[in-house]
Amino acid sequence: MLDFLGTLERTHMCGDLRAANAGQNVVLMGWVNRRRDHGNLIFLDVRDRSGIAQVVLDKELTPDGHLKGEQVRPEYVVAAVGKVSLRDPDAINPKMPTGEIEIEATEIRVLNDAHLAPFSPAEEAIQNEEVRLKYRYIDLRRAEMQRNFWLRHEITQAIRESLSQQGFLEIETPVLNKSTPEGARDFLVPSRVHPGEFYALPQSPQIFKQILMISGFDRYFQIARCFRDEDQRADRQLEFTQVDLEMSFPRREHVFAVVEKFCAAAFAAAGVTLPTPFPRITYDDSMRQYGSDKPDLRLPGLTDVRAAIPSEAFATLQIDPALPVVALRIPNVGELSRKEREDNHPLFDQKKGAKFIDDFKRLAKSFPESATKVRELSGAADADFVIIVAGDPAHHIKASDTKFEGRLSEREINVYAAAGNFRTELAKKYTDKHGAFGITDEVVQSAAPRSGGKIIDGAKAFNPIWIVDFPMFEYDLASGHWMPAHHPFTAPYEADMANLVSDPASVRADCYDLAMNGLELGSGSIRIHRKDVQQQIFASLGISEEDARKRFGFFLDALEYGTPPHGGIALGLDRIVMLLTGAPSLREVIAFPKTAKAIDLMADAPTTVTEQQLKELHIRIALKS
Ligand code: AMO
Repeated sequence: MLDFLGTLERTHMCGDLRAANAGQNVVLMGWVNRRRDHGNLIFLDVRDRSGIAQVVLDKELTPDGHLKGEQVRPEYVVAAVGKVSLRDPDAINPKMPTGEIEIEATEIRVLNDAHLAPFSPAEEAIQNEEVRLKYRYIDLRRAEMQRNFWLRHEITQAIRESLSQQGFLEIETPVLNKSTPEGARDFLVPSRVHPGEFYALPQSPQIFKQILMISGFDRYFQIARCFRDEDQRADRQLEFTQVDLEMSFPRREHVFAVVEKFCAAAFAAAGVTLPTPFPRITYDDSMRQYGSDKPDLRLPGLTDVRAAIPSEAFATLQIDPALPVVALRIPNVGELSRKEREDNHPLFDQKKGAKFIDDFKRLAKSFPESATKVRELSGAADADFVIIVAGDPAHHIKASDTKFEGRLSEREINVYAAAGNFRTELAKKYTDKHGAFGITDEVVQSAAPRSGGKIIDGAKAFNPIWIVDFPMFEYDLASGHWMPAHHPFTAPYEADMANLVSDPASVRADCYDLAMNGLELGSGSIRIHRKDVQQQIFASLGISEEDARKRFGFFLDALEYGTPPHGGIALGLDRIVMLLTGAPSLREVIAFPKTAKAIDLMADAPTTVTEQQLKELHIRIALKS
């Protein structure tokens, strides 16, 4: 039999009670976390979002309460009325913040009962994520999840406050609109009143924020929900949240300063000091040094050791002498057994026209001096294992060899990228096992007390870096077109404008990424603010005027009514929270995420709709059998 709440009012949160509250009469409300029956005494751990307090139901003090205590089960919702008392010294629980006290109940009300949950929120996360997601409301009760969302809240508030203080205005842009230019697939929403026409959900507020600059708002921001129909990964969801901003008359330095300030505030909200300014690296250097445009600075870099390889060795090792020979080292693992080396093979992505030299000993046998030099150049200590990645002449991929003054060619980039991918895969593997890469389990724990953060170094846990000087275009072999490396509103370097048509590959974009710990946190650019330049870019991208008008005509019109130079950036809020909680996936920091198969297991979305709904939307379903 359930009780009514009546006029009972909560006086305290469970987790807030301390020895100083002893003697006070309190009313707590929450869920039964655990229940222990000691005959005449029943102990209920009552949980709310602040924590847990122990409630004692003494048969003598409250026979009625004791009777109810016999009936309640985990996850029942209760109100407990009673007095805070100090526990006997031998009953103190130093692991609980409320471990010095307990509540001697005089009354208990059972406000609701509960089915036996498929897992207990009092315990660590269960392995089966599908069950967690199906019963997300129970999963979210777990202390770890509650902490994640507290932290998310604190981080979001800190960002809002910092941007507001820096003169940014929060403005909402439409969710139902036209296709945006971020390059992923759109989610479409059929229009009922305009048969056959569709809105697109925004992949980002990109065009609208640029129009807000044309409208004279000068500094805009939004904590914006974005939608992209793309493959799901640990760091990608169909819907996610951007910290999106745009400013008028900036150089990129101004954007950097704004971002560094709100990032420092956001990280401070999570107890992390982020030194500013963040370092910068060019795209080419980032590829050379880390084999990635989102480098993880916590791991040792790559070294081109081509100079240490004698010309005969290229034939022996069957590697391409025209391409970089990249050494990467795994610190502290010593010599790897053959079996262990073989286990590493699947971690290397063979597709990229590169190969790795699995057995460094073989090189050492035939070319001992070269091997010593390679180790020296890569800075390897005795206990470090060295691996070489080089161009594979047998898998010469179709790529442009064109090389522009001082820039990496596509083939070179591929070798570096293959080494870079291998490096991060090996890091994931060996960090856990050996504390290699100088990142031990203890520092992992200290940086990420809440969950299984894998490669987090507590001492220098968070390493932001700006990547600049991206190429403006990437050549798409399949279509034979130059594609925008960012989006088509990104401005080229003023100095490179003359080459737009004659030499597109040499044009640098005035865009920038913010990377941290191997993750792309943000991306932005200085925009094109002149219609003539915008048209030139569309032309170089093979976008016809007609097509451009159809997709972005309203924006091209707006550009002609006094557009200030402007630029901005968007950071992935979910990714920031993921890093700061040490969570292994965005699903841990999004309340109701989708699975890898794009399903909300709890709500069971997507789902079919009624014939009537389809009819109203003028849609007929034609499924292939
Ligand atoms: P971009 O497409 O690079 O740029 O996105 C910016 C940042 O948003 C985050 N992000 C995602 N997070 C989770 N799941 C996803 N599917 C996902 N896609 C992107 C990343 C990324 O760095 N309009 C431009 C920004 C600009 O130029 O101002 C844009 O959207 O952290």
